[in-house]
Formats: sequence, structure tokens, C-alpha cells
Amino acid sequence: MPRIGVIGGSGLYEIEGIVIKEGKKITTPFGDPSDIYRIGDIAGIELAFLPRHGSPHHIPPHRINYRANIWGFKELGVERIISVSAVGGITPEMIPRTIVVLDQVIDMTKGRESTFYDADVVVHIDFTEPYCPELRDSIFSAGKKSGIDLKQTGTYIGVNGPRLETRAEIRFFSRIGADVVGMTGMPEASLARELEMCFSGVSVITNYAAGISEKKLTTTEVVETMRKSTERLKLLLKETFSLIPAERRCGCKDALKDAKM
Ligand code: HPA
Repeated sequence: MPRIGVIGGSGLYEIEGIVIKEGKKITTPFGDPSDIYRIGDIAGIELAFLPRHGSPHHIPPHRINYRANIWGFKELGVERIISVSAVGGITPEMIPRTIVVLDQVIDMTKGRESTFYDADVVVHIDFTEPYCPELRDSIFSAGKKSGIDLKQTGTYIGVNGPRLETRAEIRFFSRIGADVVGMTGMPEASLARELEMCFSGVSVITNYAAGISEKKLTTTEVVETMRKSTERLKLLLKETFSLIPAERRCGCKDALKDAKM
């Protein structure tokens, strides 16, 4: 059973060095995930990889079936998910090609199916710390070990897209404490918590957010910057896999305890 799941974002569609043993198609009570799950092995560690936008990239952020994607990992036996995404940088230290290990979220998405509990059982999970602290620690250690510079904190603001933001929106996001902006981080993170899975967000700054630089934003820039960062990203991920402890000691595994009405 794969213990670790990886969700690949724009520009990360595979991880070389991982021996793919099989592709698993999963159907869920919520519909179909973005793609088959590629089950692989690296140095004896079983992984499941899912490209969030499908392969080839064809599902826009607002059309991703987040519930099916997360449910599929759970069904495979995955306990921890590392979610990789491209983001725009808002605060001055968030310059393109920086890798940030997210620690907070502001959710501005709308109209997305964002819970597994919308009938019969009422559940309010604690989301004070949206990302698993143990998983974050493993990523920090991997960064240190492989000499990859990481921003260890960053507040992610999730927007619906698919359009990019206005200058005024980014100015507002900056004032309310966001460091980076992206379109896919939510509800992925809270859905994983609802299923008591550990979840971490590793984001690559692919561009300055709207109005931060005077340059026009292009998808080409996003993809190109991501491409330039994938070597570092893959190295970081591989190192992280080997550093994740076998047993979970964080609170994620008990997220539903005292959360049900
Ligand atoms: N805004 C929203 N999502 C993004 C951006 C951005 O600037 N860059 C990459 N994903």
C-alpha cells in the first residue's frame, strides 16, 4: 500500500527515478479523479502520484474534482499527501523560483464541493493549522540535506480562477496577510483533513502576482518558471520521502475526534 501521495501541479506531471509499477483507475462516490493514480516505488517507499489537471493538462482549477482526488488517495491507503502547486508571489520575499512550504491558508474559492460531510453527519474539523506539522518538518529536513533553499512559512490565498487577479485584488490580498496566490490549494487541504490524512503544500513561485511587477502575466511564464524549478523540486521530494517517519505522531490522524456533532 502506498503510504505517500503526491499531487502534481502545472509543470509537474511525473517524478523521474520512481519506478511506476501500475496505474490504478479509481472511481469514487463523488465521481472520477483527475487521472489514474500512478503507483511507484523509490528506494523501497511506495508512492501514489496524481496529476491534478489530468494528463495531458486539460482540467481547469474550478473544474477539478477535489473530493474524488482526495478520496482516491484514501482508498489507496495513502496517509500523507504532498501537494505541489504553482503560485504567484505577493510579498517581497516571494520572488519567482522560490519554493515555499505553506503554513497558512485563506480560502476565497467559491462554488466548489468542499466537504465530504454535507448530509446526515455534521462535522467541523479543526483547521487552525491547515498543514501537517510533521510533514512540514520532513520537508525542512529534506531541504537542509539536499541544500535546497526553502521559505518555511507562507500564507496561501486560494482563488477560483481561471482568470488571473486584478491589481486591486492583489493589493487587498496583501493587506489581509496573503504571501502567495493560487487556484488549487483549496479545498484540497481541508478535504484531506476531513479524511484524517496528513497534507502539506509545496508551492513554487512562478511569477509576481498581478500588479507586483509591471510585466503582463502569461501562462507561458508560469509553465516556464515551473519547468526551471522541477529539478530542485523533484530532488526535494525524493529526499522528503526518505525522511518521513513510518508512524504518524501528528494530530491529523485524529482529526475527526470530537469534530462530529
Ligand atoms: N495567480 C493565481 N494563480 C497562480 C498564479 C497567479 O499569479 N501563478 C500561478 N498560479
